[in-house]
Amino acid sequence: MAVEYAIRPARFEDAQAIAGVHVEAWRATYAGLLPGEYLSGLSVRERARNRRTALADQEGVRQTFVIEARQTGASSRKGAKAAPVRIVGFGDCGPARGGPTRSTGEFYAIYLASDVQNIGLGRALMAVMARHLLRYGVQDAVVWALGGNRQAHWFYERLGGMACGERPLAIAGQSYSEVAYCWDDLTVLASAVDA
Ligand SMILES: CC(C)(COP(=O)(O)OP(=O)(O)OC[C@H]1O[C@@H](n2cnc3c(N)ncnc32)[C@H](O)[C@@H]1OP(=O)(O)O)[C@@H](O)C(=O)NCCC(=O)NCCS
Repeated sequence: MAVEYAIRPARFEDAQAIAGVHVEAWRATYAGLLPGEYLSGLSVRERARNRRTALADQEGVRQTFVIEARQTGASSRKGAKAAPVRIVGFGDCGPARGGPTRSTGEFYAIYLASDVQNIGLGRALMAVMARHLLRYGVQDAVVWALGGNRQAHWFYERLGGMACGERPLAIAGQSYSEVAYCWDDLTVLASAVDA
């Protein structure tokens, strides 16, 4: 059975699934980078609650997008169950939250489930978010990545992001650093795929 992927704006009822992807991706991505106790203590329930609040407020330039995976080729017989749909990733974008860069837009987060990484979905999601920001007149944007998250650094560099800042970050009482990647012209990122 084949799988089709679609990117769409998140809805309120996606909160639980987004929280599940978020926690799973944090545990996989930051294992060995952040304290194990902190990662195992992450709560899907708590994230879902925060996510519901954020989604209830969502409008305009600040937006969450999800990636849906749908199995295709399932039986179309009358009475057959609809093909299962699973949320396998999400991204958040909106106005820059301030900080050492002068960017006006920001990609707050992008997380994909482990089994759908490296097949082009991250690139497609970044392009969708760049187009969204451009629609609201936001021409440039920043994303922050944990210093040790090499996969994310390669990904942003591959998509034309330029290292443009660094800042300290405290997690679970320990000190880390974050690296910023900037796009001065989001039209480049927006045209990264045809999605
Ligand atoms: C980082 C992440 C969003 C990238 O999305 P993805 O769907 O896996 O990446 P894509 O398949 O779209 O890859 C896009 C490009 O980046 C490159 N790339 C991605 N990961 C890479 C890696 N580890 N090393 C080298 N290049 C990499 C790909 O080769 C691809 O380039 P190409 O299309 O020219 O071949 C995704 O892997 C993820 O969710 N990772 C875990 C969470 C995370 O780190 N999020 C970022 C937090 S700041």
